[in-house]
Amino acid sequence: MKKIILASAALALLASCGQPKSDMDKYIDGLMGKMTLEQKIGQLNLHSAGGFISALEVKEDDANVKLLRAGQLGGIYGSGNVEYLRQLQAIALESGAGIPLICGLDVIHGHETVMPVPLALSTSWDMDLIEKATRVAAREASASGVNWVFSPMVDICRDARWGRIVEGAGEDPYLGGEIAKAYVYGYQGHDDAFDKDEVLTCVKHYALYGAAEAGRDYNTVNLGRQEILNGYMRPYQQAAYAGAGSYMSSFNEFEGVPATMNSYLMDELLRQAWGFDGFIVSDATAVVEEVAHGIGDLQEVSARSLKAGLDMDMNSDGFIGTLQKSLDEGKVSVKDIDRACRRILEAKYKLGLFEDPYRYLDPQRAAAEVYTEANKAVAREVARDCQVLLKNNGILPLSKNARIAVVGPLADDASAMAGTWSMSRHAGESVTILQGIRDAAPKVTYAKGSNLFLDKAMEETVLYGLMRSFRPDMPIPPVHTTANAALIAQAVSLARQSDVVVACVGETQNMNGEGASRSDISIPDAQAELLRALKATGKPVVVVLTTGRPLTLTWEDANMDAILCTWSQGTEAGHAIADVLFGDANPSGKLTTTFPMSVGQLPLYYNHKNTGRPHPDYAPYRKFTSCYMDVVNGPLYPFGYGLSYTDFEYSDVELSAASMPINGKVTASVTVRNTGQRDGKETVQLYIHDIYSTSTRPVKELRGFKKIELKAGESRKVDFELSAEDLKYYDHELQYVCEPGDFEIMIGPNSRDTKAAVLTVTE
Ligand code: NOJ
Repeated sequence: MKKIILASAALALLASCGQPKSDMDKYIDGLMGKMTLEQKIGQLNLHSAGGFISALEVKEDDANVKLLRAGQLGGIYGSGNVEYLRQLQAIALESGAGIPLICGLDVIHGHETVMPVPLALSTSWDMDLIEKATRVAAREASASGVNWVFSPMVDICRDARWGRIVEGAGEDPYLGGEIAKAYVYGYQGHDDAFDKDEVLTCVKHYALYGAAEAGRDYNTVNLGRQEILNGYMRPYQQAAYAGAGSYMSSFNEFEGVPATMNSYLMDELLRQAWGFDGFIVSDATAVVEEVAHGIGDLQEVSARSLKAGLDMDMNSDGFIGTLQKSLDEGKVSVKDIDRACRRILEAKYKLGLFEDPYRYLDPQRAAAEVYTEANKAVAREVARDCQVLLKNNGILPLSKNARIAVVGPLADDASAMAGTWSMSRHAGESVTILQGIRDAAPKVTYAKGSNLFLDKAMEETVLYGLMRSFRPDMPIPPVHTTANAALIAQAVSLARQSDVVVACVGETQNMNGEGASRSDISIPDAQAELLRALKATGKPVVVVLTTGRPLTLTWEDANMDAILCTWSQGTEAGHAIADVLFGDANPSGKLTTTFPMSVGQLPLYYNHKNTGRPHPDYAPYRKFTSCYMDVVNGPLYPFGYGLSYTDFEYSDVELSAASMPINGKVTASVTVRNTGQRDGKETVQLYIHDIYSTSTRPVKELRGFKKIELKAGESRKVDFELSAEDLKYYDHELQYVCEPGDFEIMIGPNSRDTKAAVLTVTE
């Protein structure tokens, strides 16, 4: 690592010496030459608009307006309201140094047209599709006054108890890296210039937020450098290589230092090793939270955060409140403040805000380009491809002529479809599963079937949770108005008169996302009772699972006829789900997170180490080996898993040569045949295992994948070109190396069912 850092630092130095100044540098030099110190510090301050997308009024006695007038605000976030933002922009331009505001928003899975939640999107394994969904979000956000999105969220997570697992792309750093790039290209485009429908990304949460101990939100992270470099950092790094414009520091600590003041993370890795030259903003109140971390008072932590490389303070007022004094005391320098200010001005310059501060504030675009039929069509197309068929005994696809009983508390819940970060004005219009099925089939009956939980207080907690506070206009369904037994009886009665039951269960909107950790990740009790009662009717039951995290589904897998994991699919959820249920689309999603058998197995992830006393995944308990007495080691559904309405057969793995010189290349291939009756898509996955190495390595690591489409009966040879680059890892001295020796090269339809060949790498 050190070598890489030194090399890139030297390159950066060389690049800066003797280079003529760019137009941007000259412009910003001129601007900063005229700014007072207070105005410079003001640029480092970001505040919440306080209303998210709901209508806001600009009032002179509003705290933000006062700050703006005093030149103390560099950016605002949490509004997608053009009229409101135009007024703020006008005030920014007539105040202080007249510098335009940067306007951010949590555009996480679509904007007004809600796209599938990020975890769902990742199960498409389709980078073009992810980029396409993100382009729509960028167009809609930029038409709504937003020029900066707090996305992509690229935190690797191995523990499904963490509610924010829904916001990321799962557990694998390689796949996470590819997806991070697709998001950056979708938001920012493929070149450096920002068109007016492209927005600045903010990669978050930097870093390691997804490794919170025990899956408890905001909890301590306890990992070593080798582990983070191999297992967690790649998505952040790939986003930087793709040109991401900004990063958000995370709430957690690393190596005993909060990420928001961690110079190893922000400076050594992100800036020096990976060459990132944008700005870093703190997460909301993360600076002042360093006080609770036990580092010092706001004065102290603000100075340390700036010194460590933080440029912008979100919501703590630490920078505007303390930096002048820290400067007087010699704790920070003018250079530190200038550096941070310059980076923020550079972002504004790149966005074209100095040329036209109203570039993203066009009311006509806001009226014409948002929530259009074309965007909804993309949402439906995307949602069809990120549903994971976990089980099917042949009941799916359903006949449109069947008598279908749609039951379950999530069948008619639009907010559950919209998912965690949907602040869309139209979230409440998301097509429910019931609506989608009714639009497709004539003989449909419906009963709610159960409450969410048996415990009324728990149900209230969930329904009145975090996101509701952002959307006071969203109707809150009445809680526990009917006893669970009565609801179940209605559903059972409908089931008896039907050919098939579609049971819509799982997690509603507030059961995942921020501040939504769970210690029990099974189907909630009231809903589980419903499933048991449906099973007793003897009718076939298809579970349509709405969730933002892996759940423990051992009973459901053993007792239900089919399980379709649909996550939260957004605006077009119900239609896209019906497309799959009735076979108008063939499911092709593959899991990007392991589904455990039991919560006690967590953290559970496919790329684990072997240990000195390994135990086969599904073998029974054996004393003195690494296993449990009461559950097998293996998952219920492994990483990479997902069924189709057709079948794919894989040949053995062929290598173009059994050995490869370290500077050479080799091709690994399989032939995949669609042996079923339907056309289908398949994601072919390549894993490696370094058999002997100077540091221990995981049993399997994803290093390539290809999503192909095969007609019924068609076969195709799928090739993966490999070089030493694909076999590298960070060793115990943190050198990024490929060590000569034998590697298993494994290819298959998921991380469990692979076939292998051995490749020898020679010096
Ligand atoms: C806190 C969350 O952690 C982060 O993801 C989000 O972008 C900010 N709040 C702003 O809403």
